[in-house]
Amino acid sequence: VRIFSGIQPTGRKHLGNYIGAIRQWVEHQDRGDPAIYCIVDLHALSLPYDPPELRTGLYDLLALLLAAGLEPEGSVLFRQSDVHEHTELTWMLSAVTAVGELNRMHQFRDKSVGQRELVSAALLYYPVLQAADVLAYRAHEVPVGEDQREHLELMRDVARRFNARFGEDILVVPEHRIPEIGGRIMDLQEPANKMSTTGGTAEGTVLVLDDPATIEKKIKRAVTDSGSDIVRAPDKPGVTNLIDILAVARGVAPHAVEQEMRSARGYGDLKAATAQAVIEMLAPVREGYAELRGDEQRLEAILAAGAEKARAMARETLSDVRDAMGVGPPRR
Ligand code: TYM
Repeated sequence: VRIFSGIQPTGRKHLGNYIGAIRQWVEHQDRGDPAIYCIVDLHALSLPYDPPELRTGLYDLLALLLAAGLEPEGSVLFRQSDVHEHTELTWMLSAVTAVGELNRMHQFRDKSVGQRELVSAALLYYPVLQAADVLAYRAHEVPVGEDQREHLELMRDVARRFNARFGEDILVVPEHRIPEIGGRIMDLQEPANKMSTTGGTAEGTVLVLDDPATIEKKIKRAVTDSGSDIVRAPDKPGVTNLIDILAVARGVAPHAVEQEMRSARGYGDLKAATAQAVIEMLAPVREGYAELRGDEQRLEAILAAGAEKARAMARETLSDVRDAMGVGPPRR
């Protein structure tokens, strides 16, 4: 199967990004034919940003991904803006995308209300560029967290509509792969909301690069629920979140955690075990990052090699798309 996923360029990636996405990317990279992972710098232009920070954030993230275990030789790891086919295909796909659908996207609604100066057209177009990312590679499978479900649905609609209009089998209609456990890690302080560096609380957001003492403090101060049973339940979002995090960090099923915690003296034991497991899971990433981040020339070389592989694949799709749409000279 051809796997594709993307991630926004910042080193401030959190435990939700790690569990919901990065970990799956690493785990499934060998199954991909190939696995294609893209750092989406163009998506970052849709909200106010600082140009020098965009570059440093990109290096931060690349070093983090490599430290997490992504292998740039076996997979395709690249920077979105290096492959111009993404922006070209965005325009092509916009011809079969309804403005009304874009307007109704939850992310657009949530993010546009926060903008004081300008709600950019880029913010509205965000899901079209995301569709182009995946469809340019005719990818079958897209590993993401739960919050991307709506974007994936739109992408599938766009691909179907494109094929219906311009020719069956030109684009592949991709499937999402959302993990059953850990697809939506919640804020530790406000467990009704997802963990997020933009919308969440600082105290309730564990960063992948946080030092062990900070991780321990954040998890030990996590908001839990009334009662004392350590079980997953809809009325126990805080405890459920900790159980899920612990289960994923240990690589076991949530019910195994529940079983083990039957003899616990209270939520304190659950928090201590979770903090320990998360620290152990993230330690190698933090250490690897410190080693890799300094050599920006090497990081650029990795991106350049990735872009070359990506471009070759995207070019084939664009050639078919242009031909089917009647754009440019006829293909012989
Ligand atoms: P980004 O960078 O916001 O997030 C990267 C990945 O992390 C997942 N995620 C979470 N998973 C579990 N719990 C959470 N609290 C949590 N928060 C974030 C996201 O679902 C995502 O998988 N639009 C995308 C980037 C993108 C993309 C693509 C993804 C651009 N093009 C093509 C897939 C395919 C985004 O903003 O990711």
